Amino acid sequence: MPTTGQCCFRLLRPGGSIALMYEQLFAPLDLGPTNIRNRVVSSGHETMLIGDGVINDALMAYHLARADGGVGLIVVQIAEVDPLEDSEGSVLQAFDDKVIPGYQRLADELHARDTRVFAQLFHGGRESHRHGDGTLPVSVAPSAVPNERFLMMPRALTVQRILAIVQNFGTAADRMRRAGVDGVEIVASHGYLPAQFLNPQTNRRDDAYGGDAARRLQFLREVLQAARIGAGPGLTVGLRISIDEQSYDGLNIDEAIDAVATLDSEGLFDYVSVVSGSSATFAGSHHIVPSMAHEVAYVAPRAAQVKARVSVPVLVAGRINQPQEANAIIANGQADACVMTRALICDPMMPGKAKAGRTEDIRACIGCNQACIGHYLLGFPISCIQYPETGRELTYSVVPPARVPRRVLVVGGGPGGLKAAAAAAQRGHHVVLHEAAGRVGGQALRAEKIPGRAEFGGIVTNLEHEARSAGVDIVTRSKVTVDLLEIEKPDVVIIATGARPRRPDLEIGGDLPIFDAWDVLDGVEISSGKVVVADWRGDWIGLGTAIELAKRGRRVTLASNGPHAGASLMQYVRDEMTAEAIRHGVTLIPFVRPYGVDDDTVYLQHALTAEPVLIDQVVALVLATGHESVDELLRSVEGRADMTVIGVGDCVTPRTAEEAVLEGLQAAAGL
Ligand SMILES: Cc1cc2nc3c(=O)[nH]c(=O)nc-3n(C[C@H](O)[C@H](O)[C@H](O)COP(=O)(O)OP(=O)(O)OC[C@H]3O[C@@H](n4cnc5c(N)ncnc54)[C@H](O)[C@@H]3O)c2cc1C
Ligand SMILES: Cc1cc2nc3c(=O)[nH]c(=O)nc-3n(C[C@H](O)[C@H](O)[C@H](O)COP(=O)(O)O)c2cc1C
Ligand code: SF4
Repeated sequence: MPTTGQCCFRLLRPGGSIALMYEQLFAPLDLGPTNIRNRVVSSGHETMLIGDGVINDALMAYHLARADGGVGLIVVQIAEVDPLEDSEGSVLQAFDDKVIPGYQRLADELHARDTRVFAQLFHGGRESHRHGDGTLPVSVAPSAVPNERFLMMPRALTVQRILAIVQNFGTAADRMRRAGVDGVEIVASHGYLPAQFLNPQTNRRDDAYGGDAARRLQFLREVLQAARIGAGPGLTVGLRISIDEQSYDGLNIDEAIDAVATLDSEGLFDYVSVVSGSSATFAGSHHIVPSMAHEVAYVAPRAAQVKARVSVPVLVAGRINQPQEANAIIANGQADACVMTRALICDPMMPGKAKAGRTEDIRACIGCNQACIGHYLLGFPISCIQYPETGRELTYSVVPPARVPRRVLVVGGGPGGLKAAAAAAQRGHHVVLHEAAGRVGGQALRAEKIPGRAEFGGIVTNLEHEARSAGVDIVTRSKVTVDLLEIEKPDVVIIATGARPRRPDLEIGGDLPIFDAWDVLDGVEISSGKVVVADWRGDWIGLGTAIELAKRGRRVTLASNGPHAGASLMQYVRDEMTAEAIRHGVTLIPFVRPYGVDDDTVYLQHALTAEPVLIDQVVALVLATGHESVDELLRSVEGRADMTVIGVGDCVTPRTAEEAVLEGLQAAAGL
């Protein structure tokens, strides 16, 4: 393995000797015939930025931004090898020559930036999605074993179909070779088709492809052999595998490591990319893109176990957010390169900043899973809540300096105001931000108090740093009034005054104490006993407040207006928070809304039947019933002719930090 780094940032030690920062991370590495300039990898991730099954301008711009930022290797998102599994254009179609020009253009552009590019070859087996017209597909698998998460009962593959699929992998690899990419990666991870063959719980065959462990390996062996032949000697062939599917019916660590070690001894791949989790189950799926509930770099010890058994380089993924974590993993010998996919979604310039020693300028991913995998699961192009430029590169890659610098006054230092201020100052405007509170952050300062969500506060650290670095003058304890605007007379006022808790109309027939969720997160004391949390939005606040109270020893009932707790959260976060609530004994009631209280009873109404649902012997009602805008200032000045007035974020209408930050960017870009 090469040991010399390229020109890394150099630190002068006391006494004059020179130390290299992130030396291991910036050392080049050979993955079979491909040499990568550093060990930062953007792994395959679906973006919803493609068009009609091919790489288009939006995906090109997305990856070029990361290559410009210094990433060593980009593995392009999954591409289907089997025309019978066609997702009708929503997934890249490696089974058709029409993909070649797109990969070719991408490879040329990435090579010009010294970034290598691999293509992922994919067959989901029983992990398949609805057709574009809404009907269910005929999914296939080694055996007819159903899938918990997508509720698919697959058809067992015939040997003839197995042979055709193997051949499809080979043809797709040949197509990628013709497109000029540097390698192909076989997706045997996350419970997809090759993993379904490896797993004794999903492979119940008794022919050449099933039975004992050796025969369960046969499908993947033939796929890798076909890929090698198709790709030819000049291309790298990689293997992606979940080393622990973390599922009740998943491949376990011993089975996975034995399989990898055997195939490695046959020389069938040039590297192995280690991940965790499975798409097939609720408990397994949140490891595919682990949220802030997981420790950073928690898969690295598993990768080390693989590394001890194989001869090829090992890549590892899973919440490796910062260069110092990645460097330590490589320095400790746990892996040879680090997947830092969301780190790059959040900050495409991360490798370049790390190499230049500008670690404090890196916008660290906070594992919120909202705009990246959250968007993808909803069928929308990916982005980042902290950096909405991601996924919108065609619009925001080059934001020109302001033609005429203007005096911009930003009211409110929540996520929306901070982003507006930073983006306006980066364009050359003179920006002053006034924040009424003692520190900036707005509601994010409460969001970070929810148990297990302290990392959400990183959005404030990052945006404040960006604003200050861009030259924004931040004035705290300064409540802006119309009078102040008359005195300051800015050219532009951007109003981002946020929101406050909303209370629904309730029939009050007694003196049961009623609190807002914000009070609980601020630490208000609530008597011991049974507490009802009424949740309207089905987001982090209802579940988070219920968990907080349960942790304080209260007996908590979470009464959700929707079909289940956390109904509006992205699935992985919903499942992790729901599991935490259940572990702490929270009782969950769906489809109810609060309509009144007396001394010790909360009166709920069933959202479907309108029947009353009474909960008695209660000591307090906590309302997580949404927010209302703090919009008095906006209403007072909008439409004025003597200054440009723009409202952003929750003060326009309450939503989430994602919209606030995006609208902050849009406001600044429009000046
Ligand atoms: C407990 C909780 C958890 C949440 N969790 C999430 C989450 O996980 N993900 C997510 O995306 N969203 C979450 N949200 C919502 C998110 O925090 C808000 O949507 C977002 O903060 C809105 O940003 P904003 O800039 O519009 O307003 P705010 O964050 O409300 O900031 C407004 C700021 O303006 C200041 N201000 C008000 N009036 C004036 C004035 N006249 N002069 C000067 N300053 C003024 C306020 O002091 C405040 O700091 C959560 C909210 C809460 C309460
Ligand atoms: C939006 C999104 C889509 C993903 N799609 C894929 C995919 O197509 N193929 C794959 O192997 N992994 C996919 N993943 C998982 C990532 O490759 C990676 O393993 C995961 O994000 C964990 O790494 P990170 O913590 O560095 O983000 C996806 C992840 C994200 C965020
Ligand atoms: S949306 Fe959240 S999890 Fe996704 S990249 Fe951005 S900060 Fe990370």
